[in-house]
Amino acid sequence: MKKKEQDIRCFWDEQAKKFKGSDLATAPDTYYRQLEIERIAGYLKDGAEILDVGCGNGFSTIKFAEQFPHSTFIGLDYSKDLIHFAEKNLASQKPSVKKRMGFIEGDILALDEVAKLRGKKFDYIVSERCLINLLNWRQQSQALLSLKKYLKKSGRIVLCENTQEGLFRLNVLRKILELPEIKVRWHNYYMPQDKLLRFAQEHFILEETKNIGSLYYIISRVVYAALCAAKNQEPKYLHPINEIASKLPSLGDYSPNYVFLLKNKP
Ligand SMILES: C[S@@+](CC[C@H](N)C(=O)[O-])C[C@H]1O[C@@H](n2cnc3c(N)ncnc32)[C@H](O)[C@@H]1O
Repeated sequence: MKKKEQDIRCFWDEQAKKFKGSDLATAPDTYYRQLEIERIAGYLKDGAEILDVGCGNGFSTIKFAEQFPHSTFIGLDYSKDLIHFAEKNLASQKPSVKKRMGFIEGDILALDEVAKLRGKKFDYIVSERCLINLLNWRQQSQALLSLKKYLKKSGRIVLCENTQEGLFRLNVLRKILELPEIKVRWHNYYMPQDKLLRFAQEHFILEETKNIGSLYYIISRVVYAALCAAKNQEPKYLHPINEIASKLPSLGDYSPNYVFLLKNKP
């Protein structure tokens, strides 16, 4: 494992130690995360077997399980510490949720080594900002191909990830208002959307490509950010303007975050 890969894994272990079972461990923007969960859930069906890769402390996985009472869920993450808090979060759930869920430690780049996945196939595999923690497109495409092996014949990957192109478009808007460019954080590599779309068409049936939270990003990261900059204030994730923005539909293409629905193809 390369030094940077180790550093990224340590980063997630540290997030677990700092934020424990809180949603903040894996997403600082609470309102946006609610929107993301809602959009992902829109692609899932009840009565399905679902794998959530890069599940963190299980915050979203448990929300999905509450919404789909006849589905089973496995959450997988390579951070032992996040899995520890996922299990703790699960322990406080109702028996009707607990009996349908489990969390396991495992690396998305070495799924064959995860004993509990052996022989398993899923109706849906969810990745909510997991692949952006890999080093490059080579690893990201390799991860997608290994996820494909765990899909049922007509199973689907609900791939919810940030793209380079999405961030570029958001920064174009910010530039108009003289706001500084938002940079990709050191532990992330945003997916190259062009390559991803070509790859998806070759190896899967690409059923949908949808920007999530475009209007939310325009309001929170451009309009509200400009108001804060004018007053020399730091924007707050929990500001009421963000709450209002999270209730609006996703119009446009200005959020870095997308959902790609990839159906298995033989
Ligand atoms: C941005 S967080 C998202 C967590 C969760 N999906 C959510 O939305 O709260 C990314 C997660 O992916 C996990 N992760 C990153 N690289 C991974 C890998 N190679 N294998 C398994 N999990 C990984 C991290 O530990 C972290 O929990």
